[in-house]
Amino acid sequence: MKVIAHPDEAHAQISHWRNSGARIGLVPTMGALHEGHLTLAKRSKAECDYTVVTIFVNPTQFGPNEDLSRYPRTLEADLAGLRDVQVDMVFTPTPEMLYPAGFSTYVEPPASANPLEGQCRPGHFRGVTTVVMKLFQILPATIAYFGQKDYQQLTVIKRMVEDLNVPIRVEGCPTIRESDGLAMSSRNRYLDAEQRQRALSLWHALQAAKQLYESGERNVHILEQAMARELLQRGAEKIDYARVVDSQTLETIDTIDDEAVALIACFVGKTRLIDNLVLSNSDSH
Ligand code: PAF
Repeated sequence: MKVIAHPDEAHAQISHWRNSGARIGLVPTMGALHEGHLTLAKRSKAECDYTVVTIFVNPTQFGPNEDLSRYPRTLEADLAGLRDVQVDMVFTPTPEMLYPAGFSTYVEPPASANPLEGQCRPGHFRGVTTVVMKLFQILPATIAYFGQKDYQQLTVIKRMVEDLNVPIRVEGCPTIRESDGLAMSSRNRYLDAEQRQRALSLWHALQAAKQLYESGERNVHILEQAMARELLQRGAEKIDYARVVDSQTLETIDTIDDEAVALIACFVGKTRLIDNLVLSNSDSH
């Protein structure tokens, strides 16, 4: 497994592979890897000739009061996990390599970046679209894999790729959960045992929405109220949002006609957690 920090070197390696006609799978991450990330890497391995994982805690997607400095950095353990999965290359640039002095060009995110996370974390998606675009330029892969746990991020990146004619296929992969339903997240390691229990409130709130949906309820406000009630009863402290919106555009709806997505962001202690569930008549979710 090659571990490459320098963008030029990484680009040369990918170009070499691509010139031989190989399919390259790319898994962008911020490290602190868990089974969710490794599942993305395994899927890439199954579908592509070479798999590249990036590990970069991207400063431009963190707000001034967010957890950039305390974000978990576990490079040695991450590399060991990726070696086990037998990925071919890990790209580990430094912030100075991706944002050298004088850097001043950003990718303006699409409209789907405006609600939800966009309102709670101003500038977040501008940082995400910018770094993902940079990664796509440095590492011109065939397919890029992202987790559906970051549903809005996936929606934003798919739109960006389409709008900017980026020749990379974006694949969303199902959220990987602990056996009790908690979505795997690098931020779960901030939680102590008692908070870990309260973090299950997100899963239970999504299940409450799902049960109502399956019993025929299509009124979005009723679903949202049920989610908020469940979150607070089960110990979530501050709800940033508990919404049901159009699954494609993330726009506000009153009634679910076709498919919708329930999305939650809330705090448990100082830890901000997000999760989501697609509400659809087809049973694929
Ligand atoms: O989902 C993440 O880990 C990050 O937002 C990403 C896509 C790697 C960009 O920094």
